[in-house]
Amino acid sequence: MSVSIAALGGALLGGVLLVLYFTSSSSSNPKGLPLPPGPKGLPILGNLLEIPSDYYWLKFDEWIRQYGPICTVNLMGKPVILLGSPKVAADLLDRRSAIYSDRPRWVFASEILARNMHVGTIRVGDTHRRFRKAIHAGLQPKALSSYHPIEEKESRVFLKQISRDPENFRSHVKRYTAAVILGTMYGHQVSTFDNDRFAKRIFNSASIFAGSLAPGAFLVDMLPWLQYVPSWVPGAGWKKKAAKWAEDDRVLYTEMTEEARENAAKQTSFISEGLVDNQYGVTDEELAYIGGTISQTPDTLMSVSSGFMLAMVRWPEVQRKAQEEIDRVVGRSRFPVFADRANLPYTTAIVKETCRWRPVAPLSVPHASTKDDEYMGYFIPKGTTVISSIWSIHKDPEVYPDSDSFKPERFLDKDGKEKNTEESKVLGHHLYGFGRRLCPGATMADHAVWLFAAHNLWALNMKRALDANGKEIIPNVDPLSFTSGGEASHPLPFKCRLELRPGVKEFLEDIEMPGSD
Ligand code: HEM
Repeated sequence: MSVSIAALGGALLGGVLLVLYFTSSSSSNPKGLPLPPGPKGLPILGNLLEIPSDYYWLKFDEWIRQYGPICTVNLMGKPVILLGSPKVAADLLDRRSAIYSDRPRWVFASEILARNMHVGTIRVGDTHRRFRKAIHAGLQPKALSSYHPIEEKESRVFLKQISRDPENFRSHVKRYTAAVILGTMYGHQVSTFDNDRFAKRIFNSASIFAGSLAPGAFLVDMLPWLQYVPSWVPGAGWKKKAAKWAEDDRVLYTEMTEEARENAAKQTSFISEGLVDNQYGVTDEELAYIGGTISQTPDTLMSVSSGFMLAMVRWPEVQRKAQEEIDRVVGRSRFPVFADRANLPYTTAIVKETCRWRPVAPLSVPHASTKDDEYMGYFIPKGTTVISSIWSIHKDPEVYPDSDSFKPERFLDKDGKEKNTEESKVLGHHLYGFGRRLCPGATMADHAVWLFAAHNLWALNMKRALDANGKEIIPNVDPLSFTSGGEASHPLPFKCRLELRPGVKEFLEDIEMPGSD
């Protein structure tokens, strides 16, 4: 979920600040247990001023290293719990998901803009349950397999774009992600990114949603009664903006849904299937908003895909090893397909390591608790915001030794077969979150990124750029070479040379480029 991830990483502080206002004060702690340890902070403000406005996951990581994998940050007297190891996060968010599956309250973004129909930000309850059921119905294994041809085709369009215009690879990645989501969700064929009817609008809508989750963006988040003040009252101009954005989204989601209905005869999709007799158990309007939420995901896919390219440029020996595997298994006389995955464990391990090494959602999306709880001798009051610090979880030295190095081998056993970690049975990492809020698009996203990676490795040499003296420029990959703030954490622009591998050009001749609509 891009918006949300994006937004939510960025919105983290907004979320926790909101909790200050909405937390129930009815907690009881009869045993007098302490909260998990944490930095002392100032009177009244607590640790508020110690949290930087950018890259705050790095500060949280320092505290996790200092105080342990469960620690408390004090924000104006209210606890926010940080979880910093796979074990602790799984203990609470997976094993006690009945308690830890709520979200903090976002009045502007979730209630006003998304009209309580953004599945990633709504509070727990019946609507959340029904919406997730609907998403699972639309993303069951058979549907996911029917999406592979779209992901394969779009990976090849991407390669053709690279062959013509390698310099602008970032915008081609962006188009790839929009094309995959709009193709699979609505049966919509994206033309060029700029000419497409929906592609720009979904990124724009995601960015507005992300911005509106940002801390302090709208006072109504702190003072919910403001939503009832008429818009002609001085200072209530934000209501007009909200109404326009909400209406733009409604129109966009409705248009996309209608297009899915029209496309159904030639290309079924997540939405077109859901429209048949309301078989996902939600109304047409709810389905349109579920689709709208999902249509905000290309940004996260884009972050992982470009992170993969950066890693390949930085570590050419990893790239070469994967190319040897692909050449041996797939050969040079056809493109890779999803069915090759079972025989390409090293390529799969690269995708896992990309997700682990620089998680695009370093703080995932905040959860909130709905009951008082005890854990490891600590007290966690009802209504507490609980943040799984994916950044720290992916750097747990016990589970991921030498965590700053890019090592796909950590996901392989001694025979080179896939190996996962104890808490993350299938993926090996926790990029997609936990428990009842676990990303329902995780498998689909994983497949789309895998196909992108396999096609790139098969078709391209991803080389370092050269400086004026012809010397290779080693790309910067330190944590600050990725973006911070309200978007999913992307690699900052980097230079590279993308060259077609021998024999690939001929294959690309047959790839049809979608025209503008
Ligand atoms: C690389 C791409 C993606 C990443 C990294 C990602 C990551 C995440 C994360 C971290 C969460 C929050 C988990 C938590 O609260 O514990 C989430 C939620 C969500 N994701 Fe994704 N996601 C991606 C792509 C997708 C796709 C492709 C879809 C749909 C097809 C999707 C749909 C959702 C939805 C609906 C939620 C909200 C779940 C809820 O709150 O119940 N995501 N995602």
